[in-house]
Amino acid sequence: MCGIVGYIGAQSAASVVLHGLRQLEYRGYDSAGMAVINSDGALHVRREAGKLINLAQLLDQEPLQGQVGVGHTRWATHGPPCQRNAHPHRSVDGKLVVVQNGIVENFTELRQQLQLDGYTFHSDTDTEVIVHLIHRYYHNGSAGNLVNAVQRTLHDLKGPSAIVVLSQDAPDQLIAARLGNAGGVAIGQGEGEMFIASDIPAILRHTRQITFLENRQMAVITAQGAHYMDLEGSPLAKQSIQIEWNPLAAEKGEFRHFMQKEIYEQGRSLTDTLRGRLDFQQQRVMLDSLNLTDDQLRTLDKVTIVACGTSYYAGLVGKYLIEQVARLPVEVDYASEFRYRQPVVKPSHLVVAITQSGETVDTLAALEEARAHGALTVAIVNAVGSQAARVCDGLIYMQAGPEIGVASTKAFTASVTDLFLLAIYLGQARGTLDDARRAELIQAVAALPGLAGELLENAWQGNLYKDLAERFYQYRNFLYLGRGINFPIALEGALKLKEISYIHAEGYAAGEMKHGPIALIDQEMPTLVIAPRDSVYGKMISQIEQVKARGGLVLAVAHAADETIKAKADVVLPIPISHELLTPILAVMPLQILAYEIALRRGVDVDQPRNLAKSVTVE
Ligand code: F6R
Repeated sequence: MCGIVGYIGAQSAASVVLHGLRQLEYRGYDSAGMAVINSDGALHVRREAGKLINLAQLLDQEPLQGQVGVGHTRWATHGPPCQRNAHPHRSVDGKLVVVQNGIVENFTELRQQLQLDGYTFHSDTDTEVIVHLIHRYYHNGSAGNLVNAVQRTLHDLKGPSAIVVLSQDAPDQLIAARLGNAGGVAIGQGEGEMFIASDIPAILRHTRQITFLENRQMAVITAQGAHYMDLEGSPLAKQSIQIEWNPLAAEKGEFRHFMQKEIYEQGRSLTDTLRGRLDFQQQRVMLDSLNLTDDQLRTLDKVTIVACGTSYYAGLVGKYLIEQVARLPVEVDYASEFRYRQPVVKPSHLVVAITQSGETVDTLAALEEARAHGALTVAIVNAVGSQAARVCDGLIYMQAGPEIGVASTKAFTASVTDLFLLAIYLGQARGTLDDARRAELIQAVAALPGLAGELLENAWQGNLYKDLAERFYQYRNFLYLGRGINFPIALEGALKLKEISYIHAEGYAAGEMKHGPIALIDQEMPTLVIAPRDSVYGKMISQIEQVKARGGLVLAVAHAADETIKAKADVVLPIPISHELLTPILAVMPLQILAYEIALRRGVDVDQPRNLAKSVTVE
């Protein structure tokens, strides 16, 4: 959840680290800090509460000069977000600093031991125990060997942690280490310079040659390169990978927010998602990276999808897709529930994890659980080279490009599209699709980016969403209703509004309305109804009637030319006509835009809404 950037080389460490932190601020924005070894050979630290801009202003007033440094943006786990708790944390003699992403689960016990040994704590964080432990081992037990002191400290820690250590006693090196699923530690190789980052957009403008640390691995990094080892000190030969992402894809360009950019680029991102995956001659889907044979797919008797948040809602759409197209039973589980409920998992099951970041701790743990029971595992993942991408039998990259806005948008539509491809792929292997049906589905998905582009272009050119936001931004509650394959879109639409506008919104299965929520309907609670012309269209029309009969306001996501809905709803949010199974991908877009425009008018920092972080690497 926190973001770490480290640099050693010939450039100004402060400017490389600050630029990198800007790319990672989506991970946490409670406070930020930096440490650099200045030309005087001493370690200097700057820390500030609040967003990165505060640290940048402090650095303008009190610059740091030097060629080795480390920085951090924080998402608070232990202790409130204030300067005292900002990283880097410093040893008692001021010579050593540590930044951490993760949690020290046994921190209370370690803190007590350290206090008995005479260490005074200056923050409420769990991280501070790490710096004092390293300091203690360094002076007592490791005989001044910093690498050894870090290794011994890591053996004492429980829980996931990614750390970077910098000491003025060893000014020509940075030490990075990773324990458990603490989120990524990417080490970038330059010419006479090296970089460390929690996520690759932070360093893409400098290098695309990246090596990732795995659980219980560490690296001693100098300007010339990195030495990799395990926590016992045995050397490791690790391969770097070349990252193909264009660094500009992680910039905002002409848009006001990343979220806005990511919404409006969905025509392009869906084209990328489909790239290389449709064989029009054979009318087949190609998913080579799935790495599973047709025989393996034929013997499956169940699919379980595990994910969190928006990715979980994508999984719910996936259930409809896979069950209808491949006729395999699908269960969808919150990863955070799956891992603790002793699920029944067998080798004949395929467990599909959906994760934009590839770092979500619960999703990674659910995958581990599935593997432990011998299930086949596949990850649908966006972040190239992330942990989820590395631990599964098979992989489907979303190919959506970096998603920086905290509220997920293009990763949602990419992952639903990938689930559609997976459903066809399973259907091909299992013989549940005849030629005509396969051709119908492939033609339909090929048309999707064009339809998305048309929807978004119309929205961009017109004033509909701005006017609606103006009209509705002060409402306190919204209800979202969907049925069938669009029920998860009601959940996702409500989540988008909640997280970036702080307005209460509830997503509900339309058929359940009469069983309770209908009591809420009045003029004060607008109802968003998702009603494309699909197999439950008639039911959704009745739903609209029922809300109207009780004096409610209805905003309907419907086909632009649907005169019936136009006559019944107060407002229509238009979507183009598509294959029924693809309507969720188009229907979610008006809801994303509406949430964005409402949040703007409420003055929320859309890309960094309060309390949230892009990668949830702690439980
Ligand atoms: C909501 C949102 C979150 C994420 C969730 C899972 O807009 O972004 O709900 O979907 O934290 O994240 P990933 O997909 O990275 O595992």
